[in-house]
Amino acid sequence: MEAAQKEEISVEDEAVDKSIFRDCSKIAFYRRQKQNLSKKSIYQVLVDSVTTSEDGTRFKIINEATKVPLLAEVYGIEGNIFRLKINEETPLKPRYEVPDVLTSKPGIIRLNSCSGDTGNLVLTAGKGDLKCHITANPFKVDLVSEEDTVLSINSQSQLYFEHLQIRHKQRAAKENEKDASIDTSQQQENQENLGLWEEKCGNFVDVKANGPTSIGLDFSLHGFEHLYGIPQHAESHQLKNNTGDGDAYRLYNLDVYGYKIHDKMGIYGSIPYLLAHKLGRTIGIFWLNASETLVEINTEPAVEYSQTQMGSVAAKQKVRSRTHVHWMSESGIIDVFLLTGPTPSDIFKQYSHLTGAQAMPPLFSLGYHQCRWNYEDEQDVKAVDAGFDEHDIPYDVMWLDIEHTEGKRYFTWDKERFPNPKRMQELLRSKGRKLVVISDPHIKIDPDYSVYAKAKEQGFFVRSREGGDFEGVCWPGLSSYLDFTNPKVREWYSSLFAFPAYQGSTDILFIWNDMNEPSVFRGPEQTMQKDAVHHGNWEHRELHNIYGFYQQMATAEGLIKRSKGKERPFVLTRSFFAGSQKYGAVWTGDNVAEWSYLKISIPMLLTLSIAGISFCGADVGGFVGNPETELLVRWYQTGAYQPFFRGHATMNTKRREPWLFGKEHTQLIREAIRERYALLPYWYSLFYQAHVTSQPVMRPLWIEFPDELETFGIEDEYMLGSALLVHPVTEPKVTTVDVFLPGSNEVWYDLKTFAHWEGGCTVKIPVALDTIPVFQRGGTIVPVKTTVGKSTGWMADSPYGLRVALCTKASAMGELYLDDGHSFQYLHQKQFLHRKFSFCSSVLINSSANQRGHYPSRCVVDKILVLGLRKEPSSVTTHLSDGKDQPVAFTYCTRTSTLHLDKLSLHIGTDWEVHFK
Ligand code: GLC
Repeated sequence: MEAAQKEEISVEDEAVDKSIFRDCSKIAFYRRQKQNLSKKSIYQVLVDSVTTSEDGTRFKIINEATKVPLLAEVYGIEGNIFRLKINEETPLKPRYEVPDVLTSKPGIIRLNSCSGDTGNLVLTAGKGDLKCHITANPFKVDLVSEEDTVLSINSQSQLYFEHLQIRHKQRAAKENEKDASIDTSQQQENQENLGLWEEKCGNFVDVKANGPTSIGLDFSLHGFEHLYGIPQHAESHQLKNNTGDGDAYRLYNLDVYGYKIHDKMGIYGSIPYLLAHKLGRTIGIFWLNASETLVEINTEPAVEYSQTQMGSVAAKQKVRSRTHVHWMSESGIIDVFLLTGPTPSDIFKQYSHLTGAQAMPPLFSLGYHQCRWNYEDEQDVKAVDAGFDEHDIPYDVMWLDIEHTEGKRYFTWDKERFPNPKRMQELLRSKGRKLVVISDPHIKIDPDYSVYAKAKEQGFFVRSREGGDFEGVCWPGLSSYLDFTNPKVREWYSSLFAFPAYQGSTDILFIWNDMNEPSVFRGPEQTMQKDAVHHGNWEHRELHNIYGFYQQMATAEGLIKRSKGKERPFVLTRSFFAGSQKYGAVWTGDNVAEWSYLKISIPMLLTLSIAGISFCGADVGGFVGNPETELLVRWYQTGAYQPFFRGHATMNTKRREPWLFGKEHTQLIREAIRERYALLPYWYSLFYQAHVTSQPVMRPLWIEFPDELETFGIEDEYMLGSALLVHPVTEPKVTTVDVFLPGSNEVWYDLKTFAHWEGGCTVKIPVALDTIPVFQRGGTIVPVKTTVGKSTGWMADSPYGLRVALCTKASAMGELYLDDGHSFQYLHQKQFLHRKFSFCSSVLINSSANQRGHYPSRCVVDKILVLGLRKEPSSVTTHLSDGKDQPVAFTYCTRTSTLHLDKLSLHIGTDWEVHFK
């Protein structure tokens, strides 16, 4: 045991040398594609090969030089989506096609085809106005809407496809080359440089069982200059142009401690999904590939030039701007979905139709989470928990990092530090709180550790190229890695969360999956060799980016199964892929306690949000280093308005529980967290919207104001749902912030001062250390809780309030969703309440938004605030559904045009009206 303990790795041992990470120039498939594409390879459609049937249109395309045929398939998918697949017609063996990401077989709709006179093909899907024009020679696809070309594929001739080859052929070719009178050493160098069968990465040699297999394709987006998506990068929300400087956006899941910001290197997760927006249309490109992927973007601005050759009158001609997007992947096939919008809201529906919607989180997980590496022992947990109560700060979840286990053996407890985990959980339970513990994918090599022994016995680990279990170093020392791509491994791993199997666990314990890129200390780029082998004999290179996705999937299923299908899981993951939203939450990994990281958390989370992951957050305070007090306060204020809200800090940082920075700062942090808890009904309702209608919770301004150019590049403020605009303070010592309030017909209310502005302007807002600039949009009603308690559980029955913000026409709308907050009864038994609030002609109405839902809530609405009520009413009366009318007292402030109703007792779940006369 002692020796085993010594093998463990500490954070100091693992201070990562950032030079181990590769840029494009060091990536062989990038170099190969660049070299070959400079020669422009031409593909053409074999016109006679076109067939169209119920389930799609197929045709062959052939490269003029290699003559190897590729098979292209085009499908129309319900909801205005086109899918294009290109594979070798007869590959030597199957190429990897990403499984388990698409929700179910997406409904295919019949494409109608007609051939143009030049042998070109026009495909139309359903009744829509969208057409797919396929040009035969050279091969090109245009997506056309009402005679307007929205997007072209391969118009830049960057289609690239490396066919599987037999290695000896390659050797023979080498021999032949030797005969030729060319300098062989130079040839060899060239071969190595192109990394065809082997590629160096630091001290590692990646041996490629299938040789070079990379693919690539270009997309030209006509009239588009604003692109977003393809997380995860510590970069701006709007994607930047990057061709020419070898600085492509890299999608390759990597563990980068204290990652650099404003960088396009790959970090923990990858979603190969890009959105483009222009006035009048939003489109999406979903490139379903789980191997290392690079994306280059190049915008050509609009140009206007004079045509003099048209005679004496010079005509002005305008060429639209367009953006070229070049996708390159190391392996797999070309499988791309074109989401055609046209609105941002349509795009979100289309994407979730393919990859699934955000899971409905349990309510507690929207509260505040307290984490640290590590809370030392049960005493420590008890003291921190009590600290929150002593300082009257609500919180919901205590987190335990890797040190809670016996020598980093997940599913165990360190017996000295945590002798009685159930007792500890009972303490938390008594206050309506929960526990989250960590469970990483590496398993300590120790035959006495039952998880290891069982996995070993059943062959459940990833294998090395040589055939044995892959071994790599991580927190526990030498470890093997569970092969979550194998459904049997997932099923078994899920079963480890059953209460009898996981000793010391109770139903308030939830899970955190970390290091699942996977992180392999001292491995190539701190991850697994690409030539490691998975279930089905697939090389790791094929599926690297989806490894973490599978672990979270198995964990979420485990938590559901342990409750016999009754309870919603909560699983936080560091690594993710397209579709991870179905399994829980994501955070942005090991950020740093610096202002610039606070600031970049906003664009990073906006990008995740529009790529399907609504439940996302960044470590509050910054994980690495010690935040100065002002930064910590600002980080709490920012985090309180981001979806996943967790304080976390690495080992050897100073303790930073909210009450350790003096009374004044404790008060500020308390206030920020309490604001979060007050808004929970709104947050929960937004998550319900994300769950059922696929609209993101945290929204960049351009989504809510798609017709306003000024919003397209904004990333220092954002919308929560469609009602709140948040502009967190992310700079030190500022006394004002400039807030852009969009929408010329809008009116915005400052929720602190009740001051209001018309939209379409930038306002200078004075800020003190207690200011969180939040504005409510006129025309909306936001439900809140009027009393804040220890935890969400504690507050289940506490009263609601409504914040009504009137628009210029003196009306407003809003909704509230509520259920038991933890089970699947909302789904199976329709146990929920979905209420609709509307304010119109001086009457506020609470009615049902969905008659099918029922939930016996005891809650009442006890306060109503109306913002923007120009005239003081002479009376306010409540009308209940049983016909009883009752006058109620109110206070009206002429200066701010606000009206307050207090001490009401209107049941949230019944219909009623309030009349303002
Ligand atoms: C990784 C995680 C971090 C965690 C640590 C120890 O660095 O990103 O959140 O605290 O590992 O488990």
